[in-house]
Amino acid sequence: MSSAIARTAIRGRFLDFQNSVTQAQELPEQVRYIEDALLICEHGKIQWFGTWQAGQSQLTADTPIQHYPEHLIVPGLIDTHVHFPQTEMMGAYGEQLLEWLNSYTFPTELQFSDQAYANQIAQFFVQELLKNGTTTALVFCTVHPESVDALFEAAQQQQMRLIAGKVMMDRHAPEALCDTAESAYADSKTLIEKWHGKGRNLYAITPRFAPTSSPEQLARAGQLKAEYPDVYLHTHLSENPNEIAWVKQLFPEQQGYLDVYHHYGLTGSRSVFAHCVHLEENEWQCLHQTDSAIAFCPTSNLFLGSGLFPLQRTWEHQVKVGIGTDVGAGTSFNILHTLSEAYKVQQLQGNKLSAYEALYHATLGAAKALDLDDKLGNFTVGKEADFVVLDLHATALQSLRQQRAKNLEDALFALITLADDRNIHATYIYGRRAYYNPESNPKPNTEAHPTTGT
Ligand code: GUN
Ligand code: ZN
Repeated sequence: MSSAIARTAIRGRFLDFQNSVTQAQELPEQVRYIEDALLICEHGKIQWFGTWQAGQSQLTADTPIQHYPEHLIVPGLIDTHVHFPQTEMMGAYGEQLLEWLNSYTFPTELQFSDQAYANQIAQFFVQELLKNGTTTALVFCTVHPESVDALFEAAQQQQMRLIAGKVMMDRHAPEALCDTAESAYADSKTLIEKWHGKGRNLYAITPRFAPTSSPEQLARAGQLKAEYPDVYLHTHLSENPNEIAWVKQLFPEQQGYLDVYHHYGLTGSRSVFAHCVHLEENEWQCLHQTDSAIAFCPTSNLFLGSGLFPLQRTWEHQVKVGIGTDVGAGTSFNILHTLSEAYKVQQLQGNKLSAYEALYHATLGAAKALDLDDKLGNFTVGKEADFVVLDLHATALQSLRQQRAKNLEDALFALITLADDRNIHATYIYGRRAYYNPESNPKPNTEAHPTTGT
């Protein structure tokens, strides 16, 4: 594992949200934009943040400074729902959820019993996250414990804060992809002991979704959650109408889809439910009362024809929400692009998603959804130094549009609308530059000494 550089400083234009909010309208007050700012990282954490002018006295002669005068620096982007083994099957044609799982997903995931294969895809996946400015993700592996080892090892090499877990699945899937209630419990327990809290890794108990777990297996998942309360719970909920009807048929004694999870003790402040496109009123209330979170995955919901997620209801019901790519049903690793699709999903419902709200759902709001807002999400001193250096002029078209930006919010909205991985100039993990885009312009200006700064 590479260690965090002891002390380093970054100078440039910084944008974040100072505090979390309970209503979208409060966000503009929390925007913190510093045209010429200084961020000092020490041992992976933010040691000082403020204006360049005020910060110069904090610098010692031997602190290296990276100066990005032309870029925009934002907190590391957070992907609250993604499947690393599905990286290779993005763009699988023609099916909605249940058929898509059987036709494409299960055959792909079968390959991950092979440790070498799992390692190879895990390495590729982590590089793809970095290339897209994603510094933290909540990740599905496969049913194979090997897939979890592969991913955590790849994340650990980069010192990334990653949350992941072994899929629990004991029915309605190919036999070779099924565990049992007992083996899922035992394997998950072993993986929790091995990985949870090791470095920056965190574990998520991961029943795939209610249809692929027997009641006995869900009870075992609940037992694990009770034994390890600070471990996460990560699953899918109310994504597709046929899926919901199937759950009601399989669990007739429960009041609805979410009630299945709630009954087995799987709701709570570290529980994240992907999709939630078709929730009923009492389910919104249950998510609120249990402090559970939602991962909103617009590219996936559009690609699989699942439906339009009603984002405004998260504010109405005070339910935590973060943005998710849901690769491989999702069609991009890029969180900025995903936000652009989120905007369109809201447009189709007559709602406006502002650029600030969009960025919030990918940074501080997502950190809150993952119960990590004490560690991630903005540039507060003491938090972990994960951030992204954005190039707003990655293409001629973007440059043309940016030159006409009316203000910061318009510039951010234009960035989100036109974004792809070319906008990621550099990605910093725990104070260290883990990714740099050599194609991107202009080149960073490394200053030998603070007093030589322009
Ligand atoms: N529901 C159960 N499994 C999956 C999956 O792999 N992807 C999506 N999008 N939904 C699911
Ligand atoms: Zn998913």
